[in-house]
Amino acid sequence: MKKKIRIAPSLLSADFAHLADEVKKCEQGAADLLHCDIMDGHFVPNITIGPLIVSAIKPLTKLQLNCHLMIEKPEKYIEDFVKAGADYISVHVEVQNHLHRTLSLIKSHNIKAGIALNPVTPLSYAFDAAEYCDFILLMSVNPGFGGQKFIKSTLKKCETLSNFLDKNNLENIDIEVDGGIKIDNVSDIVSAGANMLVCGSGIFDGDVVANIIKLRANAESVK
Ligand code: DX5
Ligand code: ZN
Repeated sequence: MKKKIRIAPSLLSADFAHLADEVKKCEQGAADLLHCDIMDGHFVPNITIGPLIVSAIKPLTKLQLNCHLMIEKPEKYIEDFVKAGADYISVHVEVQNHLHRTLSLIKSHNIKAGIALNPVTPLSYAFDAAEYCDFILLMSVNPGFGGQKFIKSTLKKCETLSNFLDKNNLENIDIEVDGGIKIDNVSDIVSAGANMLVCGSGIFDGDVVANIIKLRANAESVK
């Protein structure tokens, strides 16, 4: 099934001293979501933003906020991110012993719930958890930093997941791919079945509006 393409600029690569301007540019380029990378310095080596910044972004925009929690014990912070204005929350399967419980908790707030998998984390997690998810995020770089190179084995993984969802009447679940997506490789990622496309450095290094438009054009050119 062909899913609607959704472009999600990752604010990690934005200019944080002028975040409001960067968000405006994402709107001008007609982005669909804003991807917020939450890092705790434990699950990943980097520390970024928390609910305080998410709540500062919320009133700046009508775009939905796609919060990617790269943190340990995410279940402790779901309510904080919901209050801050998250419309989507993903938690990493690598830190979760009680995925079903956490996904239910996220959904109980009437927002979209997803799981995230590192590049070589087995897809079997996604097979078992899919029916409880609104979206599944496949990392195509090791999480922690923007500007890394796309890991090519993600394409095969994405195709396998997409076929699994189609075969099991789960085609409404979005596939989000995150890391190393650029204007010149986005069509391969869409061909593999992804429809939520996270892009940080590929959008914010240069002309944000033009980059979003080019990214969408290439993504939507896939038959
Ligand atoms: C990496 C983050 C990504 C990152 C993507 O850990 O989850 O969202 O910002 O940035 P690029 O597109 O530059 O790889
Ligand atoms: Zn991310």
